[in-house]
Amino acid sequence: MVDPGPWYQTAVRQSRGDRLPPMTWLITGGAGYIGAHVARSMAEAGEGVVVLDDLSTGIPERLPPSLPLVSGSTLDRPLLDRVLSEHSVTGVVHLAAKKQVGESVEQPLRYYRENLYGLTVLLDAVVAAGVRRFVFSSSAAVYGMPDVDLVSEDTPCVPMSPYGETKLAGEWLVRAAGRAHGLATVCLRYFNVAGAARPELFDTGVSNIIPMFFDRITRGVAPQIFGDDYPTPDGTCIRDYIHVADLATAHLAAARHLAAPGRGPGDLTVNAGTGRGVSVREVADLVAEATGRTGPPPEVVGRRAGDPARVVASARLIGEELGWTARKDVRAMVESAWEGWRTHHPEATSTPPPAL
Ligand SMILES: NC(=O)c1ccc[n+]([C@@H]2O[C@H](COP(=O)([O-])OP(=O)(O)OC[C@H]3O[C@@H](n4cnc5c(N)ncnc54)[C@H](O)[C@@H]3O)[C@@H](O)[C@H]2O)c1
Repeated sequence: MVDPGPWYQTAVRQSRGDRLPPMTWLITGGAGYIGAHVARSMAEAGEGVVVLDDLSTGIPERLPPSLPLVSGSTLDRPLLDRVLSEHSVTGVVHLAAKKQVGESVEQPLRYYRENLYGLTVLLDAVVAAGVRRFVFSSSAAVYGMPDVDLVSEDTPCVPMSPYGETKLAGEWLVRAAGRAHGLATVCLRYFNVAGAARPELFDTGVSNIIPMFFDRITRGVAPQIFGDDYPTPDGTCIRDYIHVADLATAHLAAARHLAAPGRGPGDLTVNAGTGRGVSVREVADLVAEATGRTGPPPEVVGRRAGDPARVVASARLIGEELGWTARKDVRAMVESAWEGWRTHHPEATSTPPPAL
């Protein structure tokens, strides 16, 4: 039998039986786009949840008033100590980070401070508080420009931006701290996250392709496709899009994996993707359908530097280890994202123009 470690023995003693006591998860970045989906989904599944968010891009209204939200930074060690103790936190899901690739090239010091130093301070507090379960938000950006049909977890990691570097170094830190201090950890490498479980939870940023298309359509300018001369069937880039509601359940699966009776220290790093590739042209067609084909059609412009032709996850390992598979397709992502967009942009309409 795996040595359960002191935290598990304590937990069993406290529960006076075989069942673990209820978990309370600290969700950092829980007022963000993905974090709010994770916090809601874990709370709805019966997990205890407390959110920490510095509200730099987070929106408190994404969370129901019943969920405790602490406003503050992962860089604030005294605050972390207080939250971990006052809420009797037993596990952490760490999503708080800066995520703009281009911005990370311009502001690497800020990205390393927020993403990597913030993680260091958090892990230090976690270890000191005796918390032993940790889920880390990583990214497909760790792979850089993979030249394989399906990206598996042992595909070499060569990040192309300071953002991707902070995620890869973050994984190293999580695993090293886990080994040294007896943590059970899961790193989830998210692929292209899209959609919304509810309109009010949608992604307000316009750095991802779907909101970028909506933004241009709403402003009456043509959505841009960056290059149609890639070695792919329709010449546009292929990506693996994952619905944010599916991604939220992947976190729940990771949390339950870590909380399983008998789970001792150890680490797991898995892709959170669907295993299905969808081209930018296909996304543009779905966007045109969802928006009622208003506005000018997409225009093809030059390639963006550093865009690989194809990045699609192998989703085998996450299925085997966490028993999780994605359920929703890209149409559901585009349609739910459009509902969210329209909620925030009343000037946008899905009513097609009258036929001539
Ligand atoms: N959106 C994607 O496609 C994608 C893909 C791969 C990985 N990720 C990762 O997922 C996580 C969540 O991304 P998102 O899309 O929800 O972005 P987001 O900006 O909506 O969420 C990040 C949240 O973290 C908070 N935050 C930032 N720095 C903080 C700090 N130092 N202390 C406390 N709170 C802080 C922000 O206020 C925000 O609420 C990030 O770690 C990101 O790198 C996102």
